[in-house]
Amino acid sequence: MLKRSRSGIFSSRDKKRIGILTAGGDCPGLNAAIRAVAKTALLNHGMEVIGIKDGYEGLVENKVVSLSYKDVSGILTQGGTFLGASNKADPFRYVTANGKRKDLSDVALKNVKMMGLDALVCIGGDGSLIVAYKLYKKGLNIVAIPKTIDNDLAATDATIGFDSAVITATEAIDKLHTTAQSHHRVMVIELMGRYAGWLALYAGVAGGGDIIIIPEIPYDIKKVCSQVLERNKRGKRFSIVVVAEGARPKGGKMVINKIIKSSPEPVRLGGIGNKIAGDIEKNTGLETRVTNLGHLQRGGTPSPFDRMLATRLGTFACDLAAKGDFGKMAALKGTNIAAVSLKDAVKSTRRVSPNHSIIKSAKAVGTSFAA
Ligand code: F6P
Repeated sequence: MLKRSRSGIFSSRDKKRIGILTAGGDCPGLNAAIRAVAKTALLNHGMEVIGIKDGYEGLVENKVVSLSYKDVSGILTQGGTFLGASNKADPFRYVTANGKRKDLSDVALKNVKMMGLDALVCIGGDGSLIVAYKLYKKGLNIVAIPKTIDNDLAATDATIGFDSAVITATEAIDKLHTTAQSHHRVMVIELMGRYAGWLALYAGVAGGGDIIIIPEIPYDIKKVCSQVLERNKRGKRFSIVVVAEGARPKGGKMVINKIIKSSPEPVRLGGIGNKIAGDIEKNTGLETRVTNLGHLQRGGTPSPFDRMLATRLGTFACDLAAKGDFGKMAALKGTNIAAVSLKDAVKSTRRVSPNHSIIKSAKAVGTSFAA
């Protein structure tokens, strides 16, 4: 076990040293968060900053880079993460050269000691923050920052990357509207989000989707088809169906695209959009097309909201580390930033309640959830 000091930043060196890593899938706003942590550390706490490359892989493989002010300047608007990420590397179940899994968490701890890190900021989604919590319990001085386009982390009202993905998805729905209208077609768009429907719900409502299908409300294909036909009768000769990748029919299953055994979260969803489009065409006779927006939702420049959120969470997380307030996650609570326990943050994921006020508003303007 590494020794955790009560006073917070505590090594015998003059300058304290903070590490940053971005774990799991990338999203817009990660660079903004790295910049916020690093600049706060350099400018306000006189710390040295170390970037760990490729998430937890860098922690196990000792892939590090020293970060100066210049290195983290000019990256606020850039998508992705310049430190690299990996959603396969879990130090507790690390895939070694012979393809076998091994618990290399002690190696990660040893490396952190060797790097001379007094604190480590982990920027991650649910899977990555579970790993962060386990490392914290093993003795690492960890502070977390929530990110994921899925927006499914408990204990924070928003995650970095979600707003940017909503904008990308909404723009795609807007574009599908014009071609759907021209050709009198049904357009099905499949969005990411894993087991939570936040992304499909927000983009579906913002883009004026006619039917929104999310994992939390299993759909009835008969209702989907009758809604489409009903619109046709009313002279609306096109329909937009927004589907979350985790959606499933009543009494049915989610569609799994592939299993990636080496990943901490091995299931990759995908394909429900094709299934629904096929069923619509077969049952209504209306020409139907599918768009799977895929990883476009994770790319591009962060929205102003995500830049703001990343800056606020990053500066706050660095201050927590400087105070020695470890085992915490910086979170958005209403309009404020607050510290929540990492334990609570990873206890469960946050999914859409079928009674959510957004669903009520969507229904009030005629949007169907096909339940
Ligand atoms: O968690 C973020 C996310 O983009 C999910 O919405 C999606 O299901 C998954 O990651 C895709 O993972 P990968 O990039 O490994 O295909």
